[in-house]
Amino acid sequence: MGRSFILVLLITVGFSLLLPSPLSAAAARDSLPRGASIAVEDYTTDVLRSPDGTFACGFYRGSPTVFTFSVWFARAKGRTVVWTADRARPVHSKGSRLTLDKRRGALVLTDYDGAPVWNSSSAGAPAASCVRLRDTGNLVVEDAGGKALWQSFDYPTDTLLPTQRLTAATHLVSSAHVGSDGRLLASGYYSLGFSDYAMLSLFYDNGNFSSIYWPNPYRNYVANNRRIYNFSREAAMDARGEFFSSDNAHFQAADFAAAGVRRRLTLDADGNLRAYSLDAATGKWAVSWMAFGHPCIIHGVCGANAVCLYAPVPSCACAPGHERADPRDWSRGCIPTFRQHDCGAPTKLMALPHSDFWGYDLNDGHC
Ligand SMILES: *[C@@H]1O[C@H](CO)[C@@H](O)[C@H](O)[C@H]1NC(C)=O
Ligand SMILES: *[C@@H]1O[C@H](CO)[C@@H](O)[C@H](O)[C@H]1NC(C)=O
Ligand SMILES: *[C@@H]1O[C@H](CO)[C@@H](O)[C@H](O)[C@H]1NC(C)=O
Repeated sequence: MGRSFILVLLITVGFSLLLPSPLSAAAARDSLPRGASIAVEDYTTDVLRSPDGTFACGFYRGSPTVFTFSVWFARAKGRTVVWTADRARPVHSKGSRLTLDKRRGALVLTDYDGAPVWNSSSAGAPAASCVRLRDTGNLVVEDAGGKALWQSFDYPTDTLLPTQRLTAATHLVSSAHVGSDGRLLASGYYSLGFSDYAMLSLFYDNGNFSSIYWPNPYRNYVANNRRIYNFSREAAMDARGEFFSSDNAHFQAADFAAAGVRRRLTLDADGNLRAYSLDAATGKWAVSWMAFGHPCIIHGVCGANAVCLYAPVPSCACAPGHERADPRDWSRGCIPTFRQHDCGAPTKLMALPHSDFWGYDLNDGHC
């Protein structure tokens, strides 16, 4: 009797293993065939996974009402987004879809009302067969033979993954600061790309002012150990954590060549460029290289009318007579608490010793 009970149990278990479970089948797919789509309502279950499970792709919840179509590290704590279809244009939590368009063969992101908000370019798309998330984190529209027709690696956001190349046509753009809950949707003021001299550079541009702040702008390219005018303009980090650029920019991660480490190179919201390594046991990221050891060197880190203080820990402070423009975001700087153009009122000018308002020289409000 005991034996037949065990047999029944085995058969039941065996059957449930054979029966396709719709949930796990949906969660396990690594590609989306032409004509199929992913609905925002299924964001917890309907994601594409890379074959080895490192990356996932689907609707990412930036807030309860705002979603983006993104690729993220599935095994990192809190999901680390590495690519987003259009950071400036999130979609609604109901009715939005990502479709591999049947007619054109391009990826199309539509909002709650069916309005297209983003699409992959349709060059070569008539041959599209499916969209697949590869183990590198690259989201690829493929033809029937597996050839790439479009790939997310050609349209980076703020992160470069190992083997992904930065070219003359691409650059990383930082995300904007959005409070402490972390996820950031719109683009920030910092970018990484090749300059007019084909030198890999970090740029700051807030719309009123722009500058290059890396490599060291107070030194020439020879002193910075760079080359100029190599117009092949390509840069990449390999899986071992070594970074090369056609202008001779070069670094190795602190854990260079450590086996099986997952890495990313991200232009962070504070304007610092950092290489990170994933600790597989904890799911946490460790910084393995950064462009700036000290954040005060980064341009605009505290915004207008603010001072970056070195001691005791790096922090921002408003200049005297100013208050913060946005308590959550230092890049918006500080605003005067006095009326700038009231020349009748007594105005006191103060000297700030050992400070440099780089790019924020006062050129208005003269009295
Ligand atoms: C696809 O996107 C481009 C801009 O990125 C836009 O000009 C074009 O109209 C879009 N096409 C469709 C069919 O939505
Ligand atoms: C750019 O300048 C305008 C006019 O002075 C100002 O209103 C705006 O806040 C400035 N933008 C930034 C990002 O500092
Ligand atoms: C230019 O950069 C490429 C790598 O992108 C390199 O192979 C080539 O040797 C460089 N050319 C010169 C003249 O340094």
